[in-house]
Amino acid sequence: MKRTLSLLTAAILFLGTQAHEGMWLLNKLKQINEAEMQKLGFKLTAEDIYDINKSSLKDGIVRLGGGFCSGEMVSAEGLFLTNHHCGYDAVQGLSSVEHDYLTDGFWAMTREQELPAGFSVSFLQRIDDVTEKVNSQLTPDMSEEARDAKIGEIAQALIAESSKENGLSTEFKVMFEGNEFYLFHYKTYRDVRLVGVPPSAIGKFGGDTDNWMWPRHTGDFCMFRVYTGADGEPADPASTNIPFKPKHHFPVSTAGVKEGDFAMIMGYPGSTDRFLSSHGVRLGLEQEFPSRVKVRRAKLDLYEEFMDKDPATRIKYASKHASVSNYWKYFIGQSRGLKRLHVEEKKKQQENELMAWVNADATRKAKYGNLITDLDNGYKERAKFEKANVYMQEAAFGSEAVMLGIRMFGLKNQLATDPKDAAKVAAAVARVQAAADELWKDYVPAIDQKVTAEMFRMFHADVERDLQPSVMATIEKKFKGDFDAWSAAIFKTSILTNKARLDAFLAKPSLKVLEKDLGFQASESCINHYRNFLGPAVAAGDEDLAKGYRSMVAAMREMNPGKSWYPNANSTMRLTYGQVRSYVPGDGMFYKHICTAAGILEKEDNTNDEFIVPKRQHDLLAKKEYGAYADESGELVVCFLSNNDITGGNSGSGVFNGNGELIGIAFDGNWEAMSGDIAFEPELQRTISVDIRYVLWTIDTFAGAGHLVKEMTVVERKKEEPKAEVPVIVPVEPVKPAKPVPSKKG
Ligand code: ARG
Repeated sequence: MKRTLSLLTAAILFLGTQAHEGMWLLNKLKQINEAEMQKLGFKLTAEDIYDINKSSLKDGIVRLGGGFCSGEMVSAEGLFLTNHHCGYDAVQGLSSVEHDYLTDGFWAMTREQELPAGFSVSFLQRIDDVTEKVNSQLTPDMSEEARDAKIGEIAQALIAESSKENGLSTEFKVMFEGNEFYLFHYKTYRDVRLVGVPPSAIGKFGGDTDNWMWPRHTGDFCMFRVYTGADGEPADPASTNIPFKPKHHFPVSTAGVKEGDFAMIMGYPGSTDRFLSSHGVRLGLEQEFPSRVKVRRAKLDLYEEFMDKDPATRIKYASKHASVSNYWKYFIGQSRGLKRLHVEEKKKQQENELMAWVNADATRKAKYGNLITDLDNGYKERAKFEKANVYMQEAAFGSEAVMLGIRMFGLKNQLATDPKDAAKVAAAVARVQAAADELWKDYVPAIDQKVTAEMFRMFHADVERDLQPSVMATIEKKFKGDFDAWSAAIFKTSILTNKARLDAFLAKPSLKVLEKDLGFQASESCINHYRNFLGPAVAAGDEDLAKGYRSMVAAMREMNPGKSWYPNANSTMRLTYGQVRSYVPGDGMFYKHICTAAGILEKEDNTNDEFIVPKRQHDLLAKKEYGAYADESGELVVCFLSNNDITGGNSGSGVFNGNGELIGIAFDGNWEAMSGDIAFEPELQRTISVDIRYVLWTIDTFAGAGHLVKEMTVVERKKEEPKAEVPVIVPVEPVKPAKPVPSKKG
C-alpha cells in the first residue's frame, strides 16, 4: 500500500517537472523548443514543422472559418478531419426530419454525394515578427490612446503592403499583452464539402453529462473535403471545382499510444488568459462566471422544454443548444477549478514577488512601479459594470428577435438620414434580408418568445436598475412589469418575429413602421444603451488595464529572462508538445491514459438520449469486431489522454507522434483542470483525444466507408519501447467502475 502511494506521489512530482505548459509559436520552435522536443521523442526538426521555402507539417493544418476549430489534411485529394462538434452546425444546417444526419450520420460513397459545408478553410503560409518595426515607432510617454492609434495605423500599412502578395490575406496580431507584434499570412479556400459524419450517438456520445470529463467514449470526429478551381486556386463553390492538393497531408499511424509516448498538437487555440491578475480572477469568480452560468441555464431549460416535445424543433435548436450548453458547463468547471486550486491566492503571491523585485531597484521602480496600481484602478472601474455587461451579452442579446432588430440598425439609420438614396436603402435591406434568412432557417418563435421574456426578467431582477436599458421602463409602465405580456405583444405584432410581416416591411421599408414596432423598440433601446452608456462605461478601465498588463508582462519577462515564454492563445497557429499521460484526479483515484470500447457498452443506456448505442454499433462491439484496429491486447481504444496545452479553437486539431504521424484528434479538456485557461495545472491538466484507430474503425467497420480509409496514408509501425528516462507510472489497477447512472441532459 505504502509503496503504491509513494510511487504515485513520485510520479506526480515527476509529472510536475515534465509539465507541458505552452502554446508555442511555430517560428520560434528552433530557438525555444526543438531540443526539448527531441529529448521527449520527437524525431523530426523544427524546419520539418515550419518552413517557408518548402512544404512542412504546418501546410497540413486547417483553420476552420476564422478559427472556430482546427483540422488536419489526411489525403492528397483534399480530405481533412476535424471534430464532430466542429462540423455540428454544418451538419445540422444540412439536416431535416427526412434527412436527419445528426441522428443517422452521413457518408458520401461517391464524390458527387458530398454536401456543401457552408464555411471556408484557411492555410497559414507564413509568420512575420514585426515587433521591432512597430516598437521603433512607439514612445514610452505616449498615452494609451495615442499608442493604440499608432499601432492601428502601422498595422493597416503592413496589411496593405502584404495584400499585394497574390491571393493571400494578412492578419496583424498583438502578443504578450502589447509587447510583441506579428503578421500571419493565409490562403483561404471557399469550397468545402461534408464527406462523412458519424451519428451523434457516436460523435456526441455522453452528451452534456460527459462533456469536459474523463473517461470519455466519444467518437468526436467528422470529415470534409476542400475543393479548388480547375487551376488549383481558391474558388467559389462550383460543381466544376476539383479536389484541393495540399502541400502536406499527414500519414495516419495505427501503432497506438503508450504512457509516456511523445505527443504534439498543432492547431488554432482561441484564447487564454494566463497573465490574468489576482483581481481579474476575483472579478470573474464574483461577477462574470456565476452570471453566465445562471443566464445560460435558464435559456437551456427553455430550449429543452421545446426540443423534447418536437423532433423538428430538436433539430433546429440542436446547434444553438450545444453552444450555450458547452460554455454553461465550462464556466461551472472553471469557477470550481479556480477556487479548488486557489488560483487567486497563487496569482497574488506571484504579484507580490514581482513587485518585490521591481521595488528593489530604482530604474525598475521607475519603469514598472505603477503596474499593480494601474491594474487595481482598471478593475475597480470595470467591477462597477461587469454584471450589467454580462447580462447585456448573455440575456438581452440572448433574444434572437432582439438580435435581428440590432442587425436592422443600419437600415434604420439609412431611412432616418437619407431615405431617398434608393441604392443605399436597397443595400441595407439586402443586409437585413441575409440576417433574417439566417434566423428563419432555424427559428421557433414560441421558444424565442419565452426566452425573450425570461432573459429580460432576469436582467431586471439581477442588475442595478440604473444600469438597465430604457425598455425596462416601458415594461414596468405599459405592461405593469409583466414580462410575458410584453414578450407576447412583441411576438404578436413585430416584424422581427414573423417572416410574412418582415417580408412586407422590407418590400416597402418605412421609418415610421420601424419606430412603432415594439420589437424594434426593444432592440434600439438595447443597442443605444450598450453603445452610449454601458460599452464606454466598461471600457473606462481599459486604459489602466492595458498599461498595467503590458508592464506586468514586460516585468515578468525581465525578471525571468531564462524562462521560455509563450504568448496567450489568440486564434493563431500554435504547437504544444508533451506526452501521453494518465493522472490522479483526486485523492484515492487514478485515471488511466486510455479508455476502450468496453466502456461504451458499460455506459450504454437506451432510455437516455445521451447514452444511446446504435444497434449496429452495439452488435459489432459486443462481438468485438475490431478488425485491424484492435490494440495488442485485442481491445479497441476509443480515447486517450496527453498533457498537451490546448483550449477552445484547438478542437479538431491533430495529435501527432514523434514522426509527425496522426494518432488522434483532440476534442476536449478535463474537469479537474477547467481553470486551465487562466492557470495551467501541470499535474492535472490533460487533453482528451479520440484515438485514430476508433476513427478508422467507425469509418470502415461501422459505416462501411472503407474507401475513405483507403484514400488516407495509413502506416503501421512497430512500437518502440519507451525510453528509460521516461517514467512509467505503475497504476493500481482500478476497480471496474459500476455502470454509471447518467443524469438526464442538463
Ligand atoms: N467541450 C468540448 C470543447 O469545447 C466540446 C464537446 C462537445 N460535446 C458535447 N457533448 N457538447 O471543445
